[in-house]
Amino acid sequence: MAFETLIVETNEGVALVRLNRPQALNALNSQLLGELSAALDAAEADPEVGCVVVTGSEKAFAAGADIKEMADKTYAEMFAADFFAKAARRIEQFRKPIIAAVSGYALGGGCELAMLCDFIIASDTAKFGQPEINLGVMPGIGGTQRLTRYVGKSKAMDMMLTGRMMDAAEAERSGLVSRIVAADKLLDEALEAARKIAAQSPLAVMMNKELVNTAYETTLSAGVAVERRLFHSLFAFEDQKEGMAAFVEKRKPAFKGR
Ligand code: CAA
Repeated sequence: MAFETLIVETNEGVALVRLNRPQALNALNSQLLGELSAALDAAEADPEVGCVVVTGSEKAFAAGADIKEMADKTYAEMFAADFFAKAARRIEQFRKPIIAAVSGYALGGGCELAMLCDFIIASDTAKFGQPEINLGVMPGIGGTQRLTRYVGKSKAMDMMLTGRMMDAAEAERSGLVSRIVAADKLLDEALEAARKIAAQSPLAVMMNKELVNTAYETTLSAGVAVERRLFHSLFAFEDQKEGMAAFVEKRKPAFKGR
């Protein structure tokens, strides 16, 4: 599939999606968000894809929603188009894992896009922020809610009210990113993690993802009850037999997704 604002390559079970609007530091405009949704549709439908990596350039993962596209919009236009909601929902409903590999700026909608992914691997040059306050607005792709869940109230308030950026070390300390790597190793590390995920049972991977997300939406006892049901249900799949037999026989498992 050919896109103008993305470059998508699929190899060894991993779809690598590069945001590609270098002239605007990968600012998220309607075209890019539409193409991202289409790329995810294709990745979801492709049985060869077990994991997606979303990345930007060395300078910017994405410097936010496209301010130039938004600047003159009216309330009626924003409301009627349900601006940003369609793409956000597409990512929220994507059932395979998505890793954000972040180098440089992840600001505003860029930070929100990274947080919509399942986890973030950051280069040591990464900078995260929700600077919408400087524009007289606020985050509009889930940032007020997700950043608060990731880093807690105090840091979320600080970042959203002052508009300051967080460097990679602070982001890791705060739980926003899972790991930091040297900038020139970012893609290798993210792709290695993605290939590892893609080689697992896709059924177990989807259920793990679903259950971690459930932890954000429900009580502990309700979440644990769902986990117990799904854990038991995994014993209906050949992949559970294969995974455990391979361990006992000291060989690598060959999962089939059934
Ligand atoms: N939207 C549109 N264009 C953007 C952009 C954005 N979010 N961020 C950068 N650009 C454009 C710049 O306008 C510039 O284009 P021109 O060369 O045509 O002027 C080009 O990208 C390069 O940017 P800079 O010259 O500004 O680069 P810099 O290295 O000096 O600064 C930066 C980098 C600090 C990231 C700066 O570009 C910046 O502050 N960008 C805006 C960050 C921001 O406010 N993001 C939030 C957007 S609102 C949002 O995201 C709402 C939401 O939650 C949904």
